[in-house]
Amino acid sequence: MVRQATNKLLQNAKKSKKDEFYTQLCDIERELQYYPNSFVNKVVYCNCDDPDVSNFFRFFRDNFHKLGLSKLIASCFREIDNNSVQIQNDKRAFYCVYNGTDEPMFVAPFRGNGDFRSEECMELLQQSDIVVTNPPFSLFREFVSQIVKHNKQFLVIGNVNAITYKEIFDLIQNNKAWLGVNLGRGISGFIVPEDYKQYGSEVHVNEAGQTIIATNGCLWLTNLELNKRHEDINLTKLYLGNESKYPMYDNCDGININKTQDIPKDYCGLMGVPITFLHKYNPEQFEIVRFRKGDDGRDLRVNGKCPYFRILIRNRRLQHIKRVV
Ligand SMILES: C[S@@+](CC[C@H](N)C(=O)[O-])C[C@H]1O[C@@H](n2cnc3c(N)ncnc32)[C@H](O)[C@@H]1O
Repeated sequence: MVRQATNKLLQNAKKSKKDEFYTQLCDIERELQYYPNSFVNKVVYCNCDDPDVSNFFRFFRDNFHKLGLSKLIASCFREIDNNSVQIQNDKRAFYCVYNGTDEPMFVAPFRGNGDFRSEECMELLQQSDIVVTNPPFSLFREFVSQIVKHNKQFLVIGNVNAITYKEIFDLIQNNKAWLGVNLGRGISGFIVPEDYKQYGSEVHVNEAGQTIIATNGCLWLTNLELNKRHEDINLTKLYLGNESKYPMYDNCDGININKTQDIPKDYCGLMGVPITFLHKYNPEQFEIVRFRKGDDGRDLRVNGKCPYFRILIRNRRLQHIKRVV
């Protein structure tokens, strides 16, 4: 129940466009350890990050030399009240540039509100190689689309449901983006304003006095090279002899599978797997054929019922075999 409430909270954040979930340093460190050579001589841009509070900024500043960065840029967003004639300096959106020296950092206010889509932020994007941040949930697809359009690399946090967005799924299917290492409980929680306390046991206060909400519904999405995505899923199950465990779809010539670990090693046709499969997906082992829909263009059905979002895949390693089943 409580977990449902938490996931609902994230959905509400998306709907209300509140987006007030701040990433913990421990979660950034836990993911970033898997990209040891990706940052050498690169310019990193954290474009939804107030450098005064962002743990992304803190991580890259503190690990600047270890990662071999060439520059770090961070910029923050401030909603502008169009009615106020003059915006006080401390309320302005701004950006900063750190080049790894002891000299004072370059800090400058934006003319506008620091929206990642603004001309000023786009200029900073052009100067950078890799965008790393936790962007607003409500603008996730637009955010990723912009980075991809500008041929930049990225490592960003999103909601697991983002996989089901057409724009994001297409990137994954076409091998232009993939899931990072940590997913679900692998991201321990977000720093939220104190008034989220009402959500009970999923919320705790850490040693620093920050309110943390645990979530089960987030992922890292990236196009940075990752060893994990070249590792085969170890398949142990057999289809032959266990046909009844793998019902055929009503509207597609393929079998339904409820858990990634149940993918049989001897089935060369279409298989519908849950979206969490993507966490283990190796594009050399499997081909992603289609998302969610059967041959009739409607949601995949088994005995009249639609299992939750299925991805149709095919085992590439068996494609030399003539269909045996
Ligand atoms: C989920 S919070 C994450 C903050 C920070 N990146 C982190 O991980 O701790 C999303 C942030 O995006 C900012 N934001 C909201 N709309 C934005 C926009 N259009 N352009 C840039 N940043 C935006 C919010 O101010 C908020 O700080």
